[in-house]
Amino acid sequence: MEITNVTEYEAIAKEKLPKMVYDYFASGAEDEWTLQENRNSFARILFRPRILIDVSKIDMTTTILGEYATARAASAAGTIMILSSWTTSSVEEVASTGPGIQFFQIRFFQLQVYKNRKVVEQLVRRAERAGFKAIVLTGDAPRLGRRESDIKNRFTLPPNLALKNFEGLDHGKIDEANDSGLASYAGGQIDRTLSWKDVQWLQTITNMPILVKGVLTGEDARIAIQAGAAGIIVSNPVRLVVKATQGRVPVFLDGGVRRGTDVFKALALGASGIFIGRPVVFSLAAEGEAGVRKVLQMLRDEFELTMALSGCRSLSEITRNHIITNVTEYEAIAKEKLPKMVYDYYASGAEDQWTLQENRNAFARILFRPRILIDVSKIDMTTTILGFKISMPIMVAPTAMQKMAHPEGEYATARAASAAGTIMTLSSWATSSVEEVASTGPGIRFFQLYVYKNRNVVEQLVRRAERAGFKAIALTVDTPRLGRRESDIKNRFTLPPNLTLKNFEGLDLGKMDEANDSGLASYVAGQIDRTLSWKDVQWLQTITKMPILVKGVITGEDARIAVQAGAAGIIVSNHGARQLDYVPATISALEEVVKATQGRIPVFLDGGVRRGTDVFKALALGASGIFIGRPVVFSLAAEGEAGVRKVLQMLRDEFELTMALSGCRSLKEITRNHITTEWDTPRPPHPSARL
Ligand code: FNR
Repeated sequence: MEITNVTEYEAIAKEKLPKMVYDYFASGAEDEWTLQENRNSFARILFRPRILIDVSKIDMTTTILGEYATARAASAAGTIMILSSWTTSSVEEVASTGPGIQFFQIRFFQLQVYKNRKVVEQLVRRAERAGFKAIVLTGDAPRLGRRESDIKNRFTLPPNLALKNFEGLDHGKIDEANDSGLASYAGGQIDRTLSWKDVQWLQTITNMPILVKGVLTGEDARIAIQAGAAGIIVSNPVRLVVKATQGRVPVFLDGGVRRGTDVFKALALGASGIFIGRPVVFSLAAEGEAGVRKVLQMLRDEFELTMALSGCRSLSEITRNHIITNVTEYEAIAKEKLPKMVYDYYASGAEDQWTLQENRNAFARILFRPRILIDVSKIDMTTTILGFKISMPIMVAPTAMQKMAHPEGEYATARAASAAGTIMTLSSWATSSVEEVASTGPGIRFFQLYVYKNRNVVEQLVRRAERAGFKAIALTVDTPRLGRRESDIKNRFTLPPNLTLKNFEGLDLGKMDEANDSGLASYVAGQIDRTLSWKDVQWLQTITKMPILVKGVITGEDARIAVQAGAAGIIVSNHGARQLDYVPATISALEEVVKATQGRIPVFLDGGVRRGTDVFKALALGASGIFIGRPVVFSLAAEGEAGVRKVLQMLRDEFELTMALSGCRSLKEITRNHITTEWDTPRPPHPSARL
């Protein structure tokens, strides 16, 4: 079998090595959640490649702690090796370029601090004498983690091997033990009192720069710098740590790097370089030195290709904007790209924007009650909405005038939603008509309706939507007048002259004139029917066969009336906090509405959904699905159709992970018991509280 990527060496190593040895290299602590998460977190970062840049020459060289690590071709990888304290070759042997390691030009020495500080001092001096260039102080192993396979296997060093750095020092033996031999050894030798002051002590015994390895928080990064660290090696949250260091020392990443794309992502998040661990031991087991060379070469090639396909010719050209890790980040990009008037229109809410913030904040106050030890290897997110099967309960809300965000506007959104196997809702105020959107190809689409004073216009429009294959009407009921959106008033918002409200073209209703305040508010005042009431829900049923979703219900009272009025479903919505300010967050109002409908019609939610965890919370509170509004326009502004696809993909991935980590394999397994809210019955006080 031809090896085509780094990961494939693991299977070969597994076959070749004794179980005890393979398990030692491969396994992680306890449930190995973090072991998997190290890989999974890379998969949740997506690219934003730049195109049409001459990438015929790619320079991957860099300077680490002043050492020039050049990536020469062929025989020598020209990079840095960190030698473990617990090696089966001594620092002197490695310095004499023992077999299998001579192609690492520059070596750092990883230090375990022993209780016997004399031993440590000697070892550091020996490393310095042997030409090592830096000390890597392991900060996260005052005790050994519970590596359960090592315990089961009674792991110990095979008798023909020794911890060579400690030979003759009477510290070199890993004896057989009742559990993991290594854990016992570490328990006996490693100094559990190790603390930040020892970083300073180390500086008194060596001139080598000191990298602190195992930092996971910004707090510790700041302390490391104060303590004189020359650099930091983190496992996963590279973002937090990079921010905290403020560029004062380099930050490196290790943990889960298996692809050139992973390397790129780490650098885009601010890392100065990455280290690989397991790929080296697995390839060594499989093919010795040749295997390790191949691993480095494969990662190098993959990384080079990633740079080229991202439009980066040197490491300094890799930026944070080349990747995206969550839905919210599109907002910042959209803000940069869009004219202020347009960005403000999309982003803002009514008046004090209290509800706008609350739509997000309320999600944060709902916590999980995850169920564990359930086989979640298969997760089914599919669902049926009004009889239509879709791939996930995440749908696209109607947002007006999308061509202000991107020239392809609603066309791009329609295609992205279809590709994701989900529903798009088209706004009445779209800059593409119902017919134009239908022409983008197959897809399940709903039409959002604003009721105009001129009911002939409404009737025509509903008929056109039905003819164009739209499957349901989302009747917006929260907008008899437009909310006070103060940035629109300040900006004198109006539709750019090259665009029109396409559904009303030729009807003499397509124009939004400039006004003294918000052009949209004036337009609404002129056209929208303020007399709209429940009887119109019944009237609508006389002019169309499409089911009607009532969008904008916030109370149980109105939910009950909606059921009586013949609604096919309810969308709990506060119009993205753009209408009445100081209404509750939709996620706070959801349960009341769900209870009032008594399961007779499905309830949906929109407002502030930005994470897969938010989707889960809404479903746990009884929603049949959710809609997203702003994430679509922001990603559309940033990257057009590709951006909207990514947003839907990211939410899908996050939601799938949330289901898995909550122990739910299908939507119907998501229950109210999987979350806890602030309005859940408080537990009786603890007896001691009464004293
Ligand atoms: C909207 N919304 C909206 N609703 C509607 O019924 N018809 C419309 O034309 C629009 N237009 C619109 C434009 C923009 C820019 C925004 C942000 C919102 C409201 C929308 O359907 C949905 O209720 C919210 O956007 C959901 O909240 P999030 O996801 O934006 O927080």
